[in-house]
Amino acid sequence: MQRISKKTFGKLEDGTEVTEFTLRNAKGMTVRAIDYGGILTAVETPDRTGMAANITLHRDSLDDYLKGHPYFGCIVGRFANRIAGGKFSLDGKEYALATNDGPNHLHGGKRGFDKHVWKAEAAEKADSASITFRRVSPDGEEGYPGNLTVTVVYSLTDDNELRMDYTAETDKPTVLNLTNHAYWNLAGAGNGDVLGHELMIQADRYLPVDETLIPLGEPKLVADTPMDFNQPTKIGARIAQVEGGYDHCYVLTREKPEGLGLCARVVEPKSGRTMEIHTTQPAVQFYSGNFLHGSVSGGGVDYKKHFGFCLETQHYPDSPNKPDYPTTVLRPGQVYRHTTVHRFGVIE
Ligand code: BGC
Repeated sequence: MQRISKKTFGKLEDGTEVTEFTLRNAKGMTVRAIDYGGILTAVETPDRTGMAANITLHRDSLDDYLKGHPYFGCIVGRFANRIAGGKFSLDGKEYALATNDGPNHLHGGKRGFDKHVWKAEAAEKADSASITFRRVSPDGEEGYPGNLTVTVVYSLTDDNELRMDYTAETDKPTVLNLTNHAYWNLAGAGNGDVLGHELMIQADRYLPVDETLIPLGEPKLVADTPMDFNQPTKIGARIAQVEGGYDHCYVLTREKPEGLGLCARVVEPKSGRTMEIHTTQPAVQFYSGNFLHGSVSGGGVDYKKHFGFCLETQHYPDSPNKPDYPTTVLRPGQVYRHTTVHRFGVIE
């Protein structure tokens, strides 16, 4: 079988060509991604009757992506989530970042990793296919110190796993928090809201936030609150009790501190599609698509409130300003490594 193909997706204003890569596996799964932002344009999986659908929110053309979208499927960097006031200090030096979310810095700033063309290369193995994205983020980009060399590999295996492996190195001390920002709707992108999806998040604690979504400090127990997803629960079951909807960082309860650990499981009862996430990261941001309001479309459908959800595996928001949180500092000579695996399936 042919596992890899590629085609021109479009051209940027300066003439740079953007390529879309397609990965296929032996089980009928397809993943597509472009070298602009490493954006996942499609994840097609069969439902319980064998009918495939694209289950990640997407736009239909490069021009649409360039017009704007709330981080659909892209690589987020240098720092996923928020840094309070766009400021932090490291080794006694103050750094000022772009503020692009009210008073705060969000998802890498005005032109984050999602808005750059990456060097991309596809490769095939006996039981998988992958795309390797590479980019050097120059010293000072969006205010961050150090030349940062980043590699992100998306692999599709014959076990229906979409695996993302991140590595990075720097030549000056810096901070780093990489993730992928895919929005999921296991019933198919555009096929209604996700409130009926049953979600399990393996987390006993979460980070309460202020009105600008900056964590207040210590993680709090989810027990006896609408934040508790330890038992599979419909996303919509208690969402009305959470002001603004879910947009919170969950601290994962890990059996072992190292290696891949279970993060979340999602079941969409009508289609039967399931997704299980394993990660090496300490936390996951669960975002219930609260700010989607019909102004961005894909496949001819306007994505309305709660039409997709994100489970962004990452370090805690605002870590650079919170010495008690697990560190997000990367120093010369160290290698940043992070792996997240999405396993897709169906229930009867
Ligand atoms: C954030 C949301 C934000 C969304 C799109 C999520 O990671 O937590 O607050 O609206 O990204 O930018």
